[in-house]
Amino acid sequence: MTHPNLNPRKAAIIGCGFVGSATAFALMQSHLFSELVLLDVNFEKADGEAKDIAHGIPFAGAMNIYAGTYDDIADAAVIIVTAGANQKPEETRLDLVHKNVAIFKGIIPEIAKRDFQGILLIVSNPVDILTYAALKLSGLPEHRVIGSGTVLDTARLKYQLGQHLHVDSRSVHAFIIGEHGDSEIAVWSSSNVSGIPLNDFCEMRGHYDHAASTREIAEKVKTSAYEIISKKHATYYGIAMSVKRICEVIVRNEKSILPVSTMMHGEYGIDGIALSMPAIVGLDGVETHVPIVLDQEEQEQLRRSAETLRQVAATLEL
Ligand SMILES: NC(=O)c1ccc[n+]([C@@H]2O[C@H](COP(=O)([O-])OP(=O)(O)OC[C@H]3O[C@@H](n4cnc5c(N)ncnc54)[C@H](O)[C@@H]3O)[C@@H](O)[C@H]2O)c1
Repeated sequence: MTHPNLNPRKAAIIGCGFVGSATAFALMQSHLFSELVLLDVNFEKADGEAKDIAHGIPFAGAMNIYAGTYDDIADAAVIIVTAGANQKPEETRLDLVHKNVAIFKGIIPEIAKRDFQGILLIVSNPVDILTYAALKLSGLPEHRVIGSGTVLDTARLKYQLGQHLHVDSRSVHAFIIGEHGDSEIAVWSSSNVSGIPLNDFCEMRGHYDHAASTREIAEKVKTSAYEIISKKHATYYGIAMSVKRICEVIVRNEKSILPVSTMMHGEYGIDGIALSMPAIVGLDGVETHVPIVLDQEEQEQLRRSAETLRQVAATLEL
């Protein structure tokens, strides 16, 4: 990812609501970028957020944060899109699709026509469908269009397992894959704590009813956004940290494995839609999927999740 039109120390955020502004706040503290441009259809909102967040710079480190236009962001290394409606209580992520695809039809062509050479990181929901839409609307190569996918859900899973087992969640290795939404799948078959199979570690910590515990934890992960939205109308800190982590992996070319949303091409019999599978991510975006082993039931669930997304994608006019 070296190109005369690309500034590796610059990021942009389109959409400065709860998620966009929390992400900007996390990025300001991250030292990953020296320039951060905020864009919103409501310029005053972007400008207010930029000014407020900029007042933290003396405590964090020098950088330039400002509200801008599409001309200001064409050379960014990463453009993060968080614009669009969020879920209202009782609404699913898939309910947002037509509103947010219409918004993306305004945003993505503006990026595409400016010879953008960086990574387009989609966060707005439904993130898998919007990643697919962004890919089609932008004409960018697939490896440079990434959805935040189940990076957040996976963090929620690790957090819940860490709490359950009284162990640092960073020592827990487990993935949520598939749709970032109601059909997501917790991959229990390969989950482990520092190499110890999950069930063995659970027994070490005094938990023996594996079926009940995994059911309960997967349900907590799946419903946590609904619970938070019913209490405070939006979720934003967890996703902000997830986006910061994805940016870190890109900017530092870490080649870390993250469950981001990308196009599938025949893996597990799934083709032509975007969903989350563990993938190696670095400076050029997604390098390759990592074919983790799924048991029969997990493969079935993944195919059902893909079918849900395929049916929604088929209703779009892109
Ligand atoms: N992927 C995830 O894990 C995850 C997690 C949380 C929220 N989200 C999603 O992120 C999105 C944003 O959520 P939020 O809570 O910040 O919503 P919000 O309503 O607070 O903010 C949305 C912002 O987008 C702006 N906007 C709308 N149309 C625009 C356009 N054409 N160009 C530029 N800006 C535009 C609005 O002015 C607003 O400031 C939602 O779709 C939500 O579901 C995703």
